[in-house]
Amino acid sequence: MPTDVTDREGCRRMVKDAADHLGGLDILFNNAISYGRGNEDACWDATLKSGLNAVWAASMASVPYLAESGKGVILTTGSVAGTRFAWSTPAYSAAKAGVVGLTRWLAKDLGSKGIRANCLCPGLIETPLWHNPGEPYDATFQRWVEMTPLGRAGRPEEVARLALFLVSDEASFITGQDIAIDGGFCVGMRFEVDV
Ligand SMILES: NC(=O)c1ccc[n+]([C@@H]2O[C@H](COP(=O)([O-])OP(=O)(O)OC[C@H]3O[C@@H](n4cnc5c(N)ncnc54)[C@H](O)[C@@H]3O)[C@@H](O)[C@H]2O)c1
Repeated sequence: MPTDVTDREGCRRMVKDAADHLGGLDILFNNAISYGRGNEDACWDATLKSGLNAVWAASMASVPYLAESGKGVILTTGSVAGTRFAWSTPAYSAAKAGVVGLTRWLAKDLGSKGIRANCLCPGLIETPLWHNPGEPYDATFQRWVEMTPLGRAGRPEEVARLALFLVSDEASFITGQDIAIDGGFCVGMRFEVDV
């Protein structure tokens, strides 16, 4: 059900249509974000609309269905750029920090309905966000690889495995958390000059 997540009503409609189509919902995964690289208002608005407002709208729209499920889960993709340090645009940092705060509130407020809420926070992951297929990676990507203790970018399937764990019954007592998946980037960035 293609949806532009900058459209708040569209997010709510997407959740309802999905629940109608599937006969209910067990999981909501807020993953999309669109953002420009500038600091102007238009960039701020698009990033916050897609990266934070949409999470709010879709999450609240999903509550009745997730409560009905009895083991509902809201999982949101944050970023170490929002939770552990400042990087990217101010809007991206704000949106990604915002979803962590929202997730904590959702976990507290919805726990009595049996609904869990968590964030996964990737570091550098090799996806089309960084380059178009067949094109070289830019200097920022290369530098981040060098700064990551494991010496490489993460793979999408590694993030998918964390997502699957967090929405599964295996994670039945984990809620309100932001969990980094970053190859050690945040705990041990390899700077060019060691001090
Ligand atoms: N790749 C990384 O290094 C990295 C690091 C930290 C966090 N993340 C986060 O991971 C998530 C996935 O990003 P990715 O790396 O796969 O990037 P990506 O650009 O490959 O994927 C983003 C997806 O969002 C969709 N999207 C963009 N704007 C949309 C809109 N307005 N409405 C609906 N869908 C829209 C795109 O179609 C695309 O499928 C994002 O939340 C991103 O912030 C990625």
